Amino acid sequence: MKILMLNGSPRANGNTALALGEMAEVFAREGLETELMQVGNRDIRGCIACRRCKVLGRCVFDDLVNELAPKFQACDGLVVGSPVYYASANATLVALLTRLFYSTPFDKTMKVGASVVAARRGGLSAAFDELNKFFTGSGMPVASSQYWNSIHGELPGEAAQDAEGLQTMRTLARNMAFLVKSIALGRETYGLPEREEPQRTNFIR
Ligand SMILES: Cc1cc2nc3c(=O)[nH]c(=O)nc-3n(C[C@H](O)[C@H](O)[C@H](O)COP(=O)(O)O)c2cc1C
Repeated sequence: MKILMLNGSPRANGNTALALGEMAEVFAREGLETELMQVGNRDIRGCIACRRCKVLGRCVFDDLVNELAPKFQACDGLVVGSPVYYASANATLVALLTRLFYSTPFDKTMKVGASVVAARRGGLSAAFDELNKFFTGSGMPVASSQYWNSIHGELPGEAAQDAEGLQTMRTLARNMAFLVKSIALGRETYGLPEREEPQRTNFIR
């Protein structure tokens, strides 16, 4: 069983990395494989709504998004970490997730999702909500912790002093490992939930 972890910070050794590292240690103890991808320092453009992905099965821009797609398809859980910028997730990460989720045709049902956010002081729960919406619009159960998944610090490494934030990360990882393992068992015993043909309506019809 494998967890894909995305660091949406441009700082490979910043506070988001600390939070993800705390989780990765727990995943290793739980016997889960992890792969960490540093994405927040990459040049990732936004979606242009060309909808070519609906024909190609991949994004028309052949960059990190298409590189990540098979890793996302193969994983059992996805952890997304971001610094908070103006009470939002890093725009680079949002561009990547928007294109990744929109352009990939495979079924994401029952891959477990978790998001974590790092900030000096404010805007954490708004960024947390923003990230969780990628999971909840895709049939992905969201792992939770003892508190909203946030850690505090400004300069790289400061989050190491946030004992509650670190504990929140460890609890989150343990809960996520349990969910991933339970879903694997449930899939064998019961199969995935039945899927209806999607209905697409808008407010005029
Ligand atoms: C452009 C920018 C905007 C920021 N906006 C916020 C903010 O809205 N709230 C906050 O508490 N910290 C804010 N910060 C501070 C970062 O969230 C904080 O330094 C965080 O620890 C960075 O995580 P990292 O070390 O993983 O990059 C901002 C930093 C930058 C560079």
